[in-house]
Amino acid sequence: MQPTAIDALLQETRVFPPSDEFVKRANISDPAVYDEAARDFEAFWAKHAEQCLHWFEKWHTVLEWNPPYAKWFIGGKLNACYNCVDRHAQTWRRNKAALIWEGEPGDERVLTYGDLHREVQKFANVLKSLGVQKGDRVCIYMPLIPEAAIAMLACARIGAPHSVVFGGFSADALADRIRDAQAKVLITADGGWRRGAIVPLKRNADDALRQTDSVQTVIVYQRIGGDYTVNMQEGRDHWWHELMQTAPLTCPAEPMDSEDLLYLLYTSGSTGKPKGIMHTTGGYMTGVTLTAKWVFDLKDEDVFWCTADVGWVTGHSYLVYGPLSNGATCVMYEGAPDYPDRDRFWAIVEKYRVTILYTAPTAIRAFMKWGEQYPRKHDLSSLRLLGSVGEPINPEAWMWYHEHIGGGRCPIVDTWWQTETGAIMITPLPSIVATKPGSATKPFPGIFPAILNDKGETVGTNQGGYLVITRPWPSMTRGLWGDPERFVQTYWSKYDGIYFTGDGARQDEDGYFWLLGRVDDVINVSGHRLSTMEVESALVDHHAVAEAAVIGVHHEIKGQGIAAFVIIKEGYTADESLKDALKQHVAQKIGAIARPDQVFFTADLPKTRSGKIMRRLLRDIAEGRALGDTTTLADPSVVQALKEKYEGQEE
Ligand code: WT7
Repeated sequence: MQPTAIDALLQETRVFPPSDEFVKRANISDPAVYDEAARDFEAFWAKHAEQCLHWFEKWHTVLEWNPPYAKWFIGGKLNACYNCVDRHAQTWRRNKAALIWEGEPGDERVLTYGDLHREVQKFANVLKSLGVQKGDRVCIYMPLIPEAAIAMLACARIGAPHSVVFGGFSADALADRIRDAQAKVLITADGGWRRGAIVPLKRNADDALRQTDSVQTVIVYQRIGGDYTVNMQEGRDHWWHELMQTAPLTCPAEPMDSEDLLYLLYTSGSTGKPKGIMHTTGGYMTGVTLTAKWVFDLKDEDVFWCTADVGWVTGHSYLVYGPLSNGATCVMYEGAPDYPDRDRFWAIVEKYRVTILYTAPTAIRAFMKWGEQYPRKHDLSSLRLLGSVGEPINPEAWMWYHEHIGGGRCPIVDTWWQTETGAIMITPLPSIVATKPGSATKPFPGIFPAILNDKGETVGTNQGGYLVITRPWPSMTRGLWGDPERFVQTYWSKYDGIYFTGDGARQDEDGYFWLLGRVDDVINVSGHRLSTMEVESALVDHHAVAEAAVIGVHHEIKGQGIAAFVIIKEGYTADESLKDALKQHVAQKIGAIARPDQVFFTADLPKTRSGKIMRRLLRDIAEGRALGDTTTLADPSVVQALKEKYEGQEE
């Protein structure tokens, strides 16, 4: 990547300041927090670690920093489960809803903090009775049901690090993760519901366990039941409900060292082997608790819905640990947004009077494509704050979210962070920072990002470069499980003592951060750097376009040319004149340099199960190579169909 000026930018001039009404009631509305944190970030984090968490014992040292190794709150003792459950169950919140759950078929359950307290203790006793000890890894492969959270919290309670594997992953992916973590116990379910069909979790688990040998015990929650039977291996497999019948009611929360491992979470990197991101207890809980409280302005009367699955870091930090640590009420929905119909999310918002919604741009673009008639069918007036995470949100989607979901009144927090960062890093504080559609705005107080060029120099205003974090922060990953070299190599070798995010970004004249996508998605056309994201934004800005993915392809003259894969909205015709119109539109929005060389119409894009477009595969298609690793795709047939279609088209 050549960090030269990006001279062709989508100009976004709209600014949305916080409303007086929002500011008046906000958890934090004094901009002085930014200066306070900048003056002494250790003191800032220490103050909030103390205020927002329960500690059995206080730390003696706030931070020990030997790059790339950080230790926070050294000597402190706490328990993540105690913070999320016990301390609320000991107050009036005992009878407050902790989880409001809805299954895809329409079944409903509400668990109060008191319920959670009882279930978690019982399940922790189950784990203990099966021989799970502090430090043992427990793998969780579950549908999005309350028991997934109960299992996580029970592990945290007894100090057994969990490794949650997304229920949409295959048996092979599960096996890789079990093997790498050497998990001793696997917690799963007979199955889960997805678009009316059963996801055969137990069958996948059985396949996975044939490939690995560390797991001695399997606990199976009966989610489907009825006629749906699964194989239970004598001596190895146990039903959750049977074990729970005899489990004692109380189990003390183990005082954990601040730096004890809370969990592992596998994420993909640039190579095929997934990385086991490690998070420890004190720093992680500080990061997620404070960000949940300030970014989402969480209050006791809120109904907070993070639509992520617990299989991703967003589910860990903002469906389980962050909101529960704050004593919030959380909605959890098991299924797909378009089942039985495309208004399911809005029906849920209306039914439970959701006040805060946190979802992903890919979902928002799908909603846009389906049309505003679906949200319009429902009363969304309970919403007061919206969030976005996972990829840059294009201004078009931001505006649609703002207007059609937020009714023009809800602030939008576009939150940039990563599995590795544990908690939100760049985001507006909704009562302090005016938002601009498409910008994640400012670093959270106590977080220090910078944008550097290849030489490690800070780039100028509006110049693209590498996004890095220059100082340690409490919830940063402590490393990669079993692979310290890769940890250093991936994140700490580009710049000395500085965390390399792998993302490109620029900062505008107001100091706002604009994320430009992964640096490997940055393309260089005739020596001009362009972000695939910018071109996509311009395409999606066209009224005929629902979704677009842009890649750089080899070009004899320009070095790289631009290929665009475009999904058009219903009612438009995929023809040559539309191709020309789209190319023209991009040229007009950004500049002639960004004009796509090729436009391909497609009905689908290859996406990972977390919704990220796999541009690497598009590049393979466009450059006529054999397809690389497709195991993380949500639907591998999409890419094969696209390849065939591509090869049959002119451009
Ligand atoms: C990568 C991290 C963090 C939870 C979900 C993804 C991209 C994430 C944003 C955002 C622009 C974003 C980055 C980052 N990303 N949020 N608000 N704006 N880009 O976690 O799977 O670890 O992915 O997602 O590229 O590096 P993840």
